[in-house]
Amino acid sequence: MKIRKAVFPVAGLGTRVLPATKAMPKEMLTIVDKPLIQYVFDEAREAGIEHFIFVTGRNKGVIEDHFDRMFELDTTLAARGNKKAEIEILARDQPAAGATSFTRQQAPLGLGHAVWCARDIVGNEPFAVVLPDELVLNTPGCLAQMIEAANKLGEKTNVIAVEEVPADMTHQYGICGVGKRLGGNMFEVDGMVEKPPKGTAPSNLSITGRYILQPEIFSILETQERGAGGEIQLTDAMIGLARTQSFYGVEFEGERHDCGSKAGFLRANIAFGMARADLRDGLRAEMKHYLEK
Ligand code: G1P
Repeated sequence: MKIRKAVFPVAGLGTRVLPATKAMPKEMLTIVDKPLIQYVFDEAREAGIEHFIFVTGRNKGVIEDHFDRMFELDTTLAARGNKKAEIEILARDQPAAGATSFTRQQAPLGLGHAVWCARDIVGNEPFAVVLPDELVLNTPGCLAQMIEAANKLGEKTNVIAVEEVPADMTHQYGICGVGKRLGGNMFEVDGMVEKPPKGTAPSNLSITGRYILQPEIFSILETQERGAGGEIQLTDAMIGLARTQSFYGVEFEGERHDCGSKAGFLRANIAFGMARADLRDGLRAEMKHYLEK
């Protein structure tokens, strides 16, 4: 099962991190020195994804610019003669020509609706969905781990990444039930529910923002009713698909960071900064200074 395409839903308003996101997309928030969207693009490319589909909305044009070449910048850096490292970084982060598509979610109707907006670009093949406000710090990346797992499971299977969350936080996530364990870090999903009311979750395994889905999800999304929060939920469509296809959960290796919240964003900056050999010592000294204040 070759997964060639990834969908990045990037139309959200980012209300949890206002005012930063008043005029700038949440996906352009910077962790250390790269925007969130570049991290998830890199994760997908490392996992073998060849086509990157962004479901954008109003005020998100800068994401398209970010993945374009900037001739003025390239030319200016080249003329300066001492900017080899910067030129290399720009080339490294660049998608191949023609490897990106942008479509718009014209109204904020929910994650399920955003994914449905990519149906014609995805076509009739399995694909990944990657939510950019969640970063997983690990090598190999979360999506690469999922694709490796999916390849062991055969055709027409769907895979979700899951992580344990404290019981008092299950109402903030999609939660899945655990069926038969396959050994290692995989299990059959036994039911899913989007944002269960407090005290009703079937487990404390939350659905992280990484999915491998079969294209049959699109016909279900087409008529999916609104669910939790009045939105068209991807989880609800997955519940429908699970009636005819298998779903597996993968407990991935790595720390997950919810960068769409202020505390998660700060924590991610520290975690990703500490993971950088060129920044670690300086950052440690700075943190020590502030902790002792
Ligand atoms: C979405 C999904 C939810 C998942 C979460 C992960 O919710 O609907 O199932 O657990 O992402 O971040 P959102 O955070 O968009 O409300």
